[in-house]
Amino acid sequence: MSTATILSRSLQERLISARLLTDSIFGILAPTAVYSRPIPERHRLVFYLGHLEAFDWNLICRKALDVASFSLQFDTLFEFGIDPPVGQAAADQPSDWPQVEEIQAYNKRVRARIDELLDHAPEQIVQVAIEHRLMHAETLAYLLHNLPFDQKSRAATPLVHATQQLPNPMIEIPPGIATLGQIQGEFGWDNEFDEHQVNVPGFRVSKYKITNGQYLDFVQQGAPAPHFWARRADGWFYRGMYFEVPLPLNAPVYVTHAEASAYARWAGKRLPAEVQFHRAAYATAAHETSDALERPYPWGNGEPDASRGNFDFNRWGWDPVDVNAHPAGDSSFGVAQLVGNGWEWTETKFGPFPGFQPMPFYPGYSQNFFDEEHYVMKGGSPVTAACMLRRSFRNWFRPNYPYVYASFRLVDD
Ligand SMILES: [Fe+2]
Repeated sequence: MSTATILSRSLQERLISARLLTDSIFGILAPTAVYSRPIPERHRLVFYLGHLEAFDWNLICRKALDVASFSLQFDTLFEFGIDPPVGQAAADQPSDWPQVEEIQAYNKRVRARIDELLDHAPEQIVQVAIEHRLMHAETLAYLLHNLPFDQKSRAATPLVHATQQLPNPMIEIPPGIATLGQIQGEFGWDNEFDEHQVNVPGFRVSKYKITNGQYLDFVQQGAPAPHFWARRADGWFYRGMYFEVPLPLNAPVYVTHAEASAYARWAGKRLPAEVQFHRAAYATAAHETSDALERPYPWGNGEPDASRGNFDFNRWGWDPVDVNAHPAGDSSFGVAQLVGNGWEWTETKFGPFPGFQPMPFYPGYSQNFFDEEHYVMKGGSPVTAACMLRRSFRNWFRPNYPYVYASFRLVDD
């Protein structure tokens, strides 16, 4: 299934499609799993069941349209997620949370009221609600990944991966301009503004994301194994959403920022800066037309579709494909999979662009994370919705948070 969140559809259609997606993700859960906490630093799953609707209600109805609340208790209880440092888990108990039926009744009432009022809500606010929900579809996928297999209904078969390990050559990127950020008038989150250009010196970048096979060399020399790996009697395995499979050597390795940085040092290279990612992904080689120095997607102008990469929930099961899959998504320089199949860590700390202004109706969205403790990720994962694959979109996480589908590649000068 796919979110089919292309921007040409109406906001109402996109909201309905996003709701169907998050409903289908909750539908994977065994009933007993709703009160579990698969990631210690995040809320119990039951929180998210109420959070998506509470967020929409608080934003669209309470703040934008000044509608009186029918359940201030739920509006508040389900208002905020948490992002403590790794190891600082919350201490609430399942009994601290309402019954699922009560939450479902709240959700139903919220949706009905929002649907009545949607035409009156400012477009930017509705876009925020849709993308907020789609971001949670992605983080729900991470949460569910960490549940035992028997607590999820299975609708996928394991992928078959090549076993012959690929070479991963370095590709030359010439010096030039990188355009970061979103133009005024188009939708973007506060951290995507203002659009600006940066001069970037030439560098080299690995054609492919660093693979499990490449990372295995590092582990065999004593580095700790990533969160997604399991050591069994007959070797290393990848712990997927539904299956454990022998480590796919040509799939991207999913690691923390700290692990990616350590690998880069070990290999005598660096992680790309955010501006280098932009050059590798969106700039064009000299032989292409000079009036299109940068493109909206690595492959050009076309909307993201399943031929271009592993994203937008294209494949139920969400497993990574091999790093050389989808060559139709390569950049102008021939760099593969810059969008999809795993976010890519950069060495850039998450901070404001020149001219940054927090969104008045959601001031903490980015600003709360300009703390030198989060790093920018670019690109997208198998569970990133199509609308958030836009060039200006920025994601960020703490350097030791191990649960994200986050890959990396290397650069040198
Ligand atoms: Fe949220």
